[in-house]
Amino acid sequence: MNEALPFVVANFKANKNWQEVSDWLDKLIPIAATFTGTIVVCPAYPFLASSAQKLSAISSKIKLGAQDISQFEAGAYTGEVAASQINDLVSFSVIGHSERRQNFKENEETLTSKVLNAQSANIEPIFCVQDAQTLVPAGAKIVAYEPVFAIGTGNADSHENIQAVASSLKAKGEYMVLYGGSVSSENVKSIVQMSVDGVLVGATNSLDPDRFISILTALS
Ligand code: PGA
Repeated sequence: MNEALPFVVANFKANKNWQEVSDWLDKLIPIAATFTGTIVVCPAYPFLASSAQKLSAISSKIKLGAQDISQFEAGAYTGEVAASQINDLVSFSVIGHSERRQNFKENEETLTSKVLNAQSANIEPIFCVQDAQTLVPAGAKIVAYEPVFAIGTGNADSHENIQAVASSLKAKGEYMVLYGGSVSSENVKSIVQMSVDGVLVGATNSLDPDRFISILTALS
């Protein structure tokens, strides 16, 4: 993997309609042109195609990610989106977010299938773990440490914990390690100064384009 660092992901979750996604992209496109790291935005599935079209029309450096991927390859799975259906649109997919584990009871077996399916469709998983002990399926190269207590609370994990988990993940494999959970323009710089290659920014500070831009500015 050869992505420029820092690697910054915006996860919109089930927020924003197309007009709002489009306005967000309009604000971010000029900023992304001068940002030296990687920016990945993850809108909801229905907006991936229009986002891809908009970004490719002007060769923007902003990359697209899915927020999830089906554990199934294709077939009779009503409501699912298979990796092979969106691999012309996205380069990445978040897999194993704690909201999926909790609300949709996704377990290790499900998540391992998701990683395999993403990879066989050439989509790079951004695999979320909630602590250093969570299983990382073989082949995953980007791991995001996202402690549940820090998500959406405004209280990021301590630098000591982030550093400890990032180092222990890196001792287990050659991972790119991200941190997610109340990342803000105030804490982002010191977070990426540790053994952390980037951040995953959720609803707290990615939905408002100005707040997300202030995170990128803090990193520049
Ligand atoms: P947050 O969410 O930035 O709103 O805390 C992070 C996440 O859920 O990935």
